[in-house]
Amino acid sequence: MSVLVTGGAGYIGSHMVLELLDAGERVVVLDNLSTGFRWAVAPQATLIEGDFGDAALVGDLLSRFEVDAIIHFAAKIVVPESVADPLGYYENNTAKARNLLAQAVQAGVPHFIFSSTAAVYGEPKVSPVNEDAPKDPINPYGRSKLMVEWMLADVAAAHKLTYTALRYFNVAGADPQGRTGQSTPNATHLIKVAVQAALGKRRGMEVFGTDYPTPDGSCLRDYIHVTDLVRAHMDALRRLRAGGGNITCNVGYGRGYSVLEVIDTVKRVSGVDFEVRRSGRRAGDPASIVASNDRIRRELCWTPRHDDLEEIVRQALEWERGLEKRLAG
Ligand code: UFG
Repeated sequence: MSVLVTGGAGYIGSHMVLELLDAGERVVVLDNLSTGFRWAVAPQATLIEGDFGDAALVGDLLSRFEVDAIIHFAAKIVVPESVADPLGYYENNTAKARNLLAQAVQAGVPHFIFSSTAAVYGEPKVSPVNEDAPKDPINPYGRSKLMVEWMLADVAAAHKLTYTALRYFNVAGADPQGRTGQSTPNATHLIKVAVQAALGKRRGMEVFGTDYPTPDGSCLRDYIHVTDLVRAHMDALRRLRAGGGNITCNVGYGRGYSVLEVIDTVKRVSGVDFEVRRSGRRAGDPASIVASNDRIRRELCWTPRHDDLEEIVRQALEWERGLEKRLAG
């Protein structure tokens, strides 16, 4: 029996692979290495270079490795890019996920864990937002993921497959043991960008919008440590294998930090006062989005262990410091 991790050479996927291996699982990674790295995949896992939309390849892997669970990370994840290239997002995140699901059904894979997103809520009317709130995504990224949630519900109703959809809030930080981290060049995510500015890898940074209806005018987000996020998948896997039914859960800490607060934290932790330019709003950004995590605590028995913005930032900084050497091989 093994677990197939799509996107296992990427940021979150590479943390997942370590967590699974630490738990004694057999792991197969399927990654086209478009944004992931071969070296990010722990050597005890089997890495197959290829596309999760490739039906023949996936069908072969599922039976050859006797896969009993698919954890599906591979996706395009940049909100403004989805606004500029919606068809690319619908192709990669939605159409190819349909193909992956079709292979899962055909091979009789019993369990599926899906990386969904807080972006399915759009601009929630209530904060913290719970899973039953209206789903009204305001960008193609959020819609591309919400459609997969719908497909999963329909597929699970028609076939013998149970699933967990996890709606991630803002994932950040790096493996506390320093084994992997956010390595993608040209990353656009706030903590990564701020850490690069602190280390002089870019000349300062911009705050996208300071006129939002929030306490300091910048956007509020719920930043969650990547290790706590992958542990939620372990909890989901355990529950599905024990016969738990289909479920969709937020994964966040339930409190928001503004962009300006995050930047201050990066400055404080790094000791570097880098330049911050205030600029206009970025396309597709909701003002504020914070998770209610009651359901995941209750149903998956998930408990945060790294709910500390300074720790998240410190580990992101440590990883970024050593990254050039890793990228050079
Ligand atoms: N931001 C800046 N300057 C930067 C980068 C980001 O001001 O250089 C701001 C953004 O405008 C936004 C906030 O920081 O207000 C967070 O932006 P990120 O790009 O880090 O993250 P997003 O909130 O856009 O997206 C993330 C995930 C999605 C997820 C979403 C849920 O990437 O997968 O959170 O809200 F859906």
